[in-house]
Amino acid sequence: MTGAYTNSAQNVEELIAAQKPGHALAQRFYTDPEIYELEVERIINRNWILAGHQSELPKAGDFKVLKVGRESAIIVRGTGGHLRAFANVCRHRGSLVCLEQKGRVKKFTCPYHGWMYDIDGKLAAARDMPEDFDWDAHSLKTVSFDVIHGLMFVSFSDSPPATENCKKELAEPMAMFDFESLKLAAHKDYAIPANWKLSIENYQECYHCATAHPDYARMHTLMLDDKKRERVQGHMKDKMQACGLKDIYIDRIDTAARPGEIGYGYSRTALFEGYLTGSREGKPVAPLLGNFTDYDGGASDFSLGAFSFLLAYSDHVVCYVFTPVDMDNSKCDIYWLVRGDAEEGKDYSIDELTWLWDVTTEADKTIIVNNSKGVHSRYYEPGPFSGMESAERVYVEWLLQELERPF
Ligand code: FES
Ligand SMILES: [Fe+2]
Repeated sequence: MTGAYTNSAQNVEELIAAQKPGHALAQRFYTDPEIYELEVERIINRNWILAGHQSELPKAGDFKVLKVGRESAIIVRGTGGHLRAFANVCRHRGSLVCLEQKGRVKKFTCPYHGWMYDIDGKLAAARDMPEDFDWDAHSLKTVSFDVIHGLMFVSFSDSPPATENCKKELAEPMAMFDFESLKLAAHKDYAIPANWKLSIENYQECYHCATAHPDYARMHTLMLDDKKRERVQGHMKDKMQACGLKDIYIDRIDTAARPGEIGYGYSRTALFEGYLTGSREGKPVAPLLGNFTDYDGGASDFSLGAFSFLLAYSDHVVCYVFTPVDMDNSKCDIYWLVRGDAEEGKDYSIDELTWLWDVTTEADKTIIVNNSKGVHSRYYEPGPFSGMESAERVYVEWLLQELERPF
């Protein structure tokens, strides 16, 4: 479909060059399969994607599968206790090896002809193969994998962005919440029938929060403009010290990332007076995390690469991962993390813990799908970003920069 405001004769370089600064993306960025293929190559498969928390796979043989676009990785704890990721592609004729989402195995058995792989990825059984068959040459292929302070990341690139500086610089803020020893309390995924960029762009801005999220907007000051927010920030910063938190601000996000490195950032924003955490009435929903001695009335944003965003309250962390399924479909995975020693039923209830971001994400889904419908219209013309959409603006600039960056 070609809109009145879209020139289908332009090649991708011309389209990028014609993109008006500070404006939403042109239609073809959402509808052109050639651009989607370029995104797969230069953005989606090139970056790190959050796959959950290490606590999900405590024992040897525990595994989970992460699917992104056409790729699928098996993350498994191997014999030495090491976490690793393998391509979920059989070395015989290429079937998916693991069809379950999560579980514990001694061996992975391919459902097609029964080749078996051990939990270290080595081929362990294959019937009727010739004598000179090279078993060692048919292990599952390795997928790039890393753990950043307890969080598991996968990249479908053989030379993924470096993570050393990210680990170093985020060590202090992540230690405040004791990320290493958090545990997964709940996980939910949301299918969003819209291009993946529309899903992430929506997460990047809170211009829509006042209109779309009455519950979120009651407690989060991000829906205020900068000036109004500054006043409430001061109040929280005084409390932070007393609660055992340092005032840290890091911006290596998107275009501010060092070349060849993962982008990352950290900041803490005040909740409105009277709200202790992100819950139905702002009341505690789980035991305090890490260093916290009390509730400071804040919520921290972590950004880790292009697809993964964390919101860390004083008593729980909500992790958002937005990934493409194909050009027209995306998925939002949400992981709710609590203190490692917290017990369900005693220290937290899943309903109370997940309520706010479940209703908020359901509302976002509707907004994103409506946005997608309009973006496909022949009358769609990219409009200007507001001041409250500055993070989205930077994200879009980064996307264009990456699309143009060859290998
Ligand atoms: S494709 Fe896996 S055993 Fe044949
Ligand atoms: Fe939203």
